[in-house]
Amino acid sequence: MADWGLSNRLARMMSPHSGNTVMLAVDHGYFMGPTRRLENARATIAPLLPHADALALTRGILRSSVPSGSTVPIVLRVSGGATILKEDLSDEAITVSMRDAVRLNASAVAMSIFVGAPHEHDSLVNLSKLVNDGEEVGVPVMAITAVGKELEKRDQRYLALACRVAVEHGAHLVKTYYCDGFEKVVEACPVPIVVAGGPKLDSDRAVLELAHAAIKQGAHGIDMGRNVWQSDHPVAMLKGLRAVVHDKATAAEALDLLNGEKARAPTLAPA
Ligand code: 5RP
Repeated sequence: MADWGLSNRLARMMSPHSGNTVMLAVDHGYFMGPTRRLENARATIAPLLPHADALALTRGILRSSVPSGSTVPIVLRVSGGATILKEDLSDEAITVSMRDAVRLNASAVAMSIFVGAPHEHDSLVNLSKLVNDGEEVGVPVMAITAVGKELEKRDQRYLALACRVAVEHGAHLVKTYYCDGFEKVVEACPVPIVVAGGPKLDSDRAVLELAHAAIKQGAHGIDMGRNVWQSDHPVAMLKGLRAVVHDKATAAEALDLLNGEKARAPTLAPA
C-alpha cells in the first residue's frame, strides 16, 4: 500500500466528485521546440490554468511561464535528451533530479517509456530507478507509453503490452493513447490510465468522442495538449472535455456546451 504522502499527491490530481482528472499537457517543447500555439507558453497556459486539474510540463516552462502562486498540481516531465531532428526519439535519460521535483512541489513526475524501440531497455531501467527515488520521498511516477514518430503503433496489443510493462516496473499512473479495444488495455493495467489526444483531430466532436469512449471504457481521465490549445476555442474545448470526464456528459451534450461557450468567447487569430 502506498504511503500517505504519495497517495495524497495522486489524490490531489483527481476530482473528488468523479475520481477522474483533466490534465493539460504543455510539455511538447522538450522535443518538438516551439510547437504551433505553444510558442508563447505563458500566454497559452494562463487562460487554461483555471480549468485544469493538473498541468503536465517541464521544469523550464514551469519556472519561466507559470505563476508560483498557482495551486494547480504539477506533473513534472523528468525525461528528455532527444529531439525531432533525430530519427530515434527513444534515446532519453532522466534529466531532472527527484530533489528538484520536490523543490518544485511536483504532485507527480512523468517520463516516457519506449517499448519496442531501440532504447527500450534504458527507458525501462530509468522508470524503475525513478520509481525507487519517487517512493523514497512520496512522489508518484506517471509512465508515458511513447511511440516516437511511429504513430501507427497505437493499437490495442501494443498499448496493452506497454501499459502493463510500465505497471510491472512500478508506475503509479500511466498515460497512453486511446485505441479500438481500449477496455482490454484498461483491464490489464491495474493503475489509473489517462489518455493523450495525439495530433490535432479533424473536429471538436472527434475530440469529445475520443474522450467519451476512453472514460466509458475505464480511463481515469485525459492528459491532452494539442487538441486543446491548437483549438480556436481552447477554454471552450477544455470545458467540454471536463463535462465528459467529470459529469458523464455524452459527446453530443459536451459539444452543445462547447458551442455555447464558443459563442461567448473571442476566436483566436489563425496560426
Ligand atoms: C509529449 C507528451 C504529450 O504530453 C502527450 O502526447 C499529450 O499531448 P497531446 O494530447 O498533444 O498528444 O507526452 O511527449
